[in-house]
Amino acid sequence: MLLASESSFSTKLPIVQAPMAGVQNSALTIAVANAGGIGSLPCAMLTPDALASELEVIRAAGIKTYNLNFFCHQQPDPDTEREAKWRQALAPFYQEHGINSDDVPAGAGRLPFSEASLEVIRPYQPPIVSFHFGLPKADWLDEIKTWGGKVWSSATTLEEALWLEAHGADAVIVQGIEAGGHRGMFLTDDLDAQPGTEALLQAVLDAVNIPVIAAGGIASPEHVKAVLDKGAAAAQVGTAYLLCDEATTTPIHRELLKAEAAGFQHSTATQQSTATQPSTTRLTNLLSGRPARGLVNRLMDELGPISEAPPEFPLATAALVPLRAAAEKQGKGDFSPLWCGTDASGCREVSAAEQTQWLASLVE
Ligand SMILES: Cc1cc2nc3c(=O)[nH]c(=O)nc-3n(C[C@H](O)[C@H](O)[C@H](O)COP(=O)(O)O)c2cc1C
Repeated sequence: MLLASESSFSTKLPIVQAPMAGVQNSALTIAVANAGGIGSLPCAMLTPDALASELEVIRAAGIKTYNLNFFCHQQPDPDTEREAKWRQALAPFYQEHGINSDDVPAGAGRLPFSEASLEVIRPYQPPIVSFHFGLPKADWLDEIKTWGGKVWSSATTLEEALWLEAHGADAVIVQGIEAGGHRGMFLTDDLDAQPGTEALLQAVLDAVNIPVIAAGGIASPEHVKAVLDKGAAAAQVGTAYLLCDEATTTPIHRELLKAEAAGFQHSTATQQSTATQPSTTRLTNLLSGRPARGLVNRLMDELGPISEAPPEFPLATAALVPLRAAAEKQGKGDFSPLWCGTDASGCREVSAAEQTQWLASLVE
């Protein structure tokens, strides 16, 4: 086990703002970095041009430590049969909203890290590059390391953590079952294989010799302190940043998060902040094709939340685009990804700097 003091990431605060595609841009990254934490920029939904302009903004801000995050899934070939089955499952919704399914283009959705991504990031030499769903080609990792870049990736099981260490990760993010958003799973598709954050953290700390970052359901200063006391090098927090001023979380998502947060009461009897209300989040594969945790919406309610109907990740997303837009126009999140972890109690409408300082307020 590595001691926390040996695994410092040279930032003032051991808080990593989780990369969150779809709800943030570099404004959140920069605000967290300026507050002394590690700000992350999710790149999975950025075109090369958009990525380059975000990197220019980050460079202009002059922040030294930040994390660029990419997905590294195997992009599947389009499958017309599965796509047709998916659209059939969505047919009643299309009908209700007056959408002709034939007019809805199929599309790739999120793209994995590639030679083109590397070309864009190379001139900026980002200090940390993190991945979700495993690691990309070893040659690419070697190049990132030539400029001193650190490579991180998420593990949802002990086996994945060991695999990441053996394949060149400089740090592992243990993502427990409580986490909002997509499971980073890549060696298994068994959802029952993912333990809770605390149990996974302990198992991984006992087994690897690289820094371990804890993620999933961490939403209070007490909980941050608890994972650091256990030996985590940092706490990676996503959901608790979703209401921050700099996040681009949609108004619908914000309202539902506030309602979810209000439903939580915390026990003051334990030092660690422990939610006593059951979360209304579920794991669903309907919104992208891969399991992710979010607030239950109408789509999850009526079709699933786990279903055979959607095509492989990330191809499921395209068919939902016009439905999402139509429902959002009516102020509803019926088909929107409302990603949220099991503990929304830390969601606060404050600046990201204030949130970062609050999360780290019990760190010695
Ligand atoms: C809205 C949202 C979007 C997310 N998008 C990404 C992403 O693009 N890349 C990634 O590695 N993880 C993503 N995650 C997962 C986070 O990295 C992290 O595992 C999770 O937020 C931790 O749990 P918490 O939400 O309970 O704090 C996302 C999480 C949320 C809530």
